[in-house]
Amino acid sequence: MTTLLQHADYGHLLPAAHGLLEEHTDQTTAHLIATGAAMEALAKKFGGDTQTWKVAGMLHDLDWDSLDKDYEAHCGGKLEELLQTIEAPAELLGDIRAHYQSKYGVEYPLDTELRKCLYCVDELTGFIIAVTLVRPSKKIADVEVRSVKKKLKDKGFAAQVDREQIGSCKELLDMELEELIEIALDAMKSVADDINL
Ligand SMILES: [Fe+2]
Repeated sequence: MTTLLQHADYGHLLPAAHGLLEEHTDQTTAHLIATGAAMEALAKKFGGDTQTWKVAGMLHDLDWDSLDKDYEAHCGGKLEELLQTIEAPAELLGDIRAHYQSKYGVEYPLDTELRKCLYCVDELTGFIIAVTLVRPSKKIADVEVRSVKKKLKDKGFAAQVDREQIGSCKELLDMELEELIEIALDAMKSVADDINL
């Protein structure tokens, strides 16, 4: 298993990333802020540049709210156009495209820890939001690792979430599912106000 560290940092784009979310996202904003926080936490574990990993998490679905659920167009020209407005390096575009493995897997393989983490945690942050919203309080502070784990086993709950992608943390990152959930959940709790949970 190759585990190369991220080779080009772009953490200086963090303020610009916030600006892009404000201007171009709506429905997806909470998922992106959550994923940014989770990626920042994962960077600490894997020794990556925390701000770079956060930017990748924050911008990975930047184009989605502009695409009217067009999966074919996701991570394509629109994304490129938006990233150009902040003079983002090619590395960021590659890191984002790598999270869409079914389309860009050949061109942008999961060959860095940043990419592997983004791939595994993307579906998980969305799932944790779904778990939170069925709690009576709708507060993430009331969500525990074991309740997330239990819901993951319930295939009828948030059925669109790809459990296999989340579970690939074991193979890709040598990380137990429980630990990935714990890191993502704690990170999301730390930004609870920003994601309205
Ligand atoms: Fe996503």
